[in-house]
Amino acid sequence: MQELKKILSIVGPKGGVGKSTISANLAIALAELGRKVICVDLDFGAANLNAIFGIRKVENTLDDFLLKKVEQLTDVLLDTDIKGLKIICGGDVPGIANMPYQRKMKLIRHLSNLGSDVVLLDLSAGVSFNVVDFLMITRQALLVTTPDIPSLMNVYSFIKSAAYRRLTVLFRQKKCPELLELLEKTKDVESHPNLRTMEDFLLEARKIDPEMAEYGKRVLSSFKPYLVINRVQTTADTKTGGVIDNLMHQYLSMKSKGTMVIREDTALKAAAAKMRPVIIESPSSKFSLDLKRMALNL
Ligand SMILES: Nc1ncnc2c1ncn2[C@@H]1O[C@H](COP(=O)(O)OP(=O)(O)O)[C@@H](O)[C@H]1O
Ligand SMILES: [Mg+2]
Repeated sequence: MQELKKILSIVGPKGGVGKSTISANLAIALAELGRKVICVDLDFGAANLNAIFGIRKVENTLDDFLLKKVEQLTDVLLDTDIKGLKIICGGDVPGIANMPYQRKMKLIRHLSNLGSDVVLLDLSAGVSFNVVDFLMITRQALLVTTPDIPSLMNVYSFIKSAAYRRLTVLFRQKKCPELLELLEKTKDVESHPNLRTMEDFLLEARKIDPEMAEYGKRVLSSFKPYLVINRVQTTADTKTGGVIDNLMHQYLSMKSKGTMVIREDTALKAAAAKMRPVIIESPSSKFSLDLKRMALNL
């Protein structure tokens, strides 16, 4: 499991908040610090990492490996112009993400055995089973959002769904029907006002199976994502991480690992027009500086 620690998932409840842009530029920033980095496009069906790197035509994608068109994962590993950075582009075969849990586990193991210091996973938007599976396998996560209120509410419900889904998977694996039933009740707080928060749930769960309740709590507390607030423009925006953290603490008995802030920057548009990563095109732009700081802090 030690190996999995070097894998970082980049997730978010919504599309268009900057996950792929951050994945690509963070990968470059980490490579510039001398780390061996692999950046993987796991946004099955909406892959676009290659475009951010300026790669127009991709010979082999991750789909080719998953569909066994190529034998080795190294066959889909692409070199880049940046020293120490390799990427794996995503394909566009819909439904390919719906692989069984064990297969995802295997893919992650493969990825962690490719000889890099860090693997970044650019995941799809939303809280599908796939995203939650990858998220929970890798454990280290950057949760990306923009600072507007609807997005912040989305982040909170994202974390909440992920937490409850993770417990569902756990209790299913461990064959605890009573706890699953209790978990089901949390979906209807009107009828079960005693199950409003995660703490409430765990309290009731302890009465049924104290050992499993404790195990569930440990699993949840091992998930401590960094909160990344992207496209920040005001001082108030920079404080929004605290809002999420409070909600997480109050209702989910969870904590983030800390907040990172990235400023709104027009340099991104200019870089995109040239199909060049902004951190290469404008290394001293606000976005690039924020990403470099982030790389140093990870
Ligand atoms: N800090 C920022 N300032 C300005 N534009 C940004 C910023 N972050 C992301 N963008 C832009 O937002 C758009 C969506 O970004 P993208 O990384 O594709 O989102 P996602 O992967 O979450 O769907 C892109 O056009 C990107 O250039
Ligand atoms: Mg994306």
